Amino acid sequence: MRKLFVSVTFLLLILRSYADEGMWLPLLLGQQVYKDMVKKGLKLSAEQLYSVNKASIKDAIIIFGNGCTGEIVSNQGLIFTNHHCGYDAIATSSTVEHNYLHDGFYAADKNQEIPANKITVRFLNRIQDVTQRVMAAVGNLQGTDRSTKLSELSNQIISEVVGGDEFKSGVVASMFKGNQYFLFVYDVYKDIRLVGAPPESIGKFGGDTDNWEWPRHTGDFSVFRVYMSPDGNPANYSRNNVPLKPKYFLPVSLKGVNDGSFAMIYGYPGGTNRYETSYGIDLKNSIENPTLVKLRDMRLKYMFEEMKKDPVVKLQLAPDYANIANYWKFYEGETKQLQKFHTQEQKAKDEQAFLQWAKSHPEYSNIFNEYAANYAAWRPYSMHRQYMNEGILGSPLVAYAATLIPLENALANNNSTKADRDKLIAAATNARKAFLQTENKPSDQRILGSVLQMYYNDIDKGQQPSGFYQNLFNKYGTTEAGYQKYAADVFNNTMLLNDNAWNRFVGNPELMTLQSDPAYAIASAFIRNYNSKYSSLYSQFVTKNNDLGRMYLKGIMEMNPEKAKMMYPDANFTMRVSYGNVKSYTPRDAVHYDYICTMKGMMEKYIPGDYEFDLPQKVVDLYNRKDFGQYKDPKYNDIVVTFITTNDITGGNSGSPVINGNGELIGLAFDGNYEALSHKIAFDKDLNRTICVDVRYVLWCIDKLGGAKHIVDELKLAR
Ligand code: ARG
Repeated sequence: MRKLFVSVTFLLLILRSYADEGMWLPLLLGQQVYKDMVKKGLKLSAEQLYSVNKASIKDAIIIFGNGCTGEIVSNQGLIFTNHHCGYDAIATSSTVEHNYLHDGFYAADKNQEIPANKITVRFLNRIQDVTQRVMAAVGNLQGTDRSTKLSELSNQIISEVVGGDEFKSGVVASMFKGNQYFLFVYDVYKDIRLVGAPPESIGKFGGDTDNWEWPRHTGDFSVFRVYMSPDGNPANYSRNNVPLKPKYFLPVSLKGVNDGSFAMIYGYPGGTNRYETSYGIDLKNSIENPTLVKLRDMRLKYMFEEMKKDPVVKLQLAPDYANIANYWKFYEGETKQLQKFHTQEQKAKDEQAFLQWAKSHPEYSNIFNEYAANYAAWRPYSMHRQYMNEGILGSPLVAYAATLIPLENALANNNSTKADRDKLIAAATNARKAFLQTENKPSDQRILGSVLQMYYNDIDKGQQPSGFYQNLFNKYGTTEAGYQKYAADVFNNTMLLNDNAWNRFVGNPELMTLQSDPAYAIASAFIRNYNSKYSSLYSQFVTKNNDLGRMYLKGIMEMNPEKAKMMYPDANFTMRVSYGNVKSYTPRDAVHYDYICTMKGMMEKYIPGDYEFDLPQKVVDLYNRKDFGQYKDPKYNDIVVTFITTNDITGGNSGSPVINGNGELIGLAFDGNYEALSHKIAFDKDLNRTICVDVRYVLWCIDKLGGAKHIVDELKLAR
């Protein structure tokens, strides 16, 4: 009976059909899924999706900044991406007087576009399978020998194609946990300018309350432009540069969507772990996620208190706050959904089925014992690692102080040259300037006081930096007030926050001065403690997991060679295509969610003066007049603000184009739904949805609300 049960699940594991799951490599679309895409509603040829020689849709897709996707939508290099992707650039371009984050902004002409100098844009130039070359070099190496060899070879391969060209970049990306390797080469554009953005009350409507949730009414878009040199090459910023002449750009559809419409999404999903083991999920749910959530809760609380009080602080902290809050809610939801779906138990069953097969493939039979041992060895230190990253370094002051450790090392080292030290001091002074721009002392001080207390209570006493707490308690006692008084003294006395004291130190950089600085002393105590005792254990854990993961995936592919041909590799911030359709869903018993949201629903959520649900008066007026223009949806006699699809995406896809069967832009993907936040580890075929802003709402915001019709005129509209 039992045996029968196992082999039935084994069969299911092989035959399970994956609905709309899959983040497909564009160069393999033709072999893997093109026919199915056509069956679902695609009207284009495989060549139009991805071509090595001819311009194709892939040429309109860009990496925007370091973690987002964008798309080219005009023959003058116009970019659409998400508001939350342009957020930092919009906030940094703003002042309290010219508050583009709050009020929105549209450049009246190209001269008014604002250089966004932290942003680069990357176009995919080519993809090449380099598996054979990599395998020949790494052979059967394991562990750090393998990773060292691999990184040497990657650097070699990249330098062959990129050379010293600052406008090219490359990456050798591991697929199927190191069973295949692809080289991706990019053209890098560095002159990127902000063209427009809606007011934050539109671009982030619903704030963190609505984040990762459907129904949704967020106008999450912003507009940028790529510039090139007059002779047509990527270039650094210059007034003489001209708008990019792109190889390809997406036409924009005014036709809207229906329940069931075909939808495909190109973009750069950052990371998934669809072959995560039951051991990994256990650690995540029991330690990693709850610790991160607890620490971020505390940090967000203190930041928000200060942001609420003062618009200057709000502008200063908003980008960091948004990032911390985004993944605070993600990891909180991830664990909830993993538990709801019993994902750990499901993975354990998959592992049993694998072991059943491994009975006739003994080289794999010990794999889960090794996993178990590896996790057991690391587990006692896992909370400590989260506390370092999310707690101790969650204080911006301590995080800055931590960057001075190499300087302390140089000052302590009699063999270091004056030139070495001068270089480190210049770098520290620059980094200090950047740090001070976003430093809010009142919130940081509270964070520091709290995190020190939380660390003391939660981390095994044997793992704590020796002597640190005894000294603190001797002077300040063990109460919460004592911790806060200690933090206040650190903030009042550190030279890192005092220009005169810092300049004196720079003029005469004494080792003792740095070591006795109270902020530096904290960074040094906690980091040296962690690095000297636990970071090598973490590296061992990760390296061993990599070896095991590579083997597990190899086994899975060997177990069923036919299915292996139809597998997609985990997301790793390389270009992927996902396809599915617009679709309503049932999140829980008796509840049905429609596939679109309208402006009517936005007005129902509107709370005048609220931090998250306020709206510009002009939106209210236009809505009352039903001034929808050509962007109106005839079926609803309203503006469709957002819609949902079954596409398989994840963080990194933000800003991705949602494209209909004719290759026209219908929306921008900007989020995933709460009920399937376990999607990095397992795609749920019933509940997984991608949340998209309808491009007609984007154009309505630009034209009717923003008065920037000239931007719409630049597009190629399909009616
Ligand atoms: N959840 C969105 C994403 O990761 C980001 C939304 C940003 N908004 C916010 N309220 N923090 O793509």
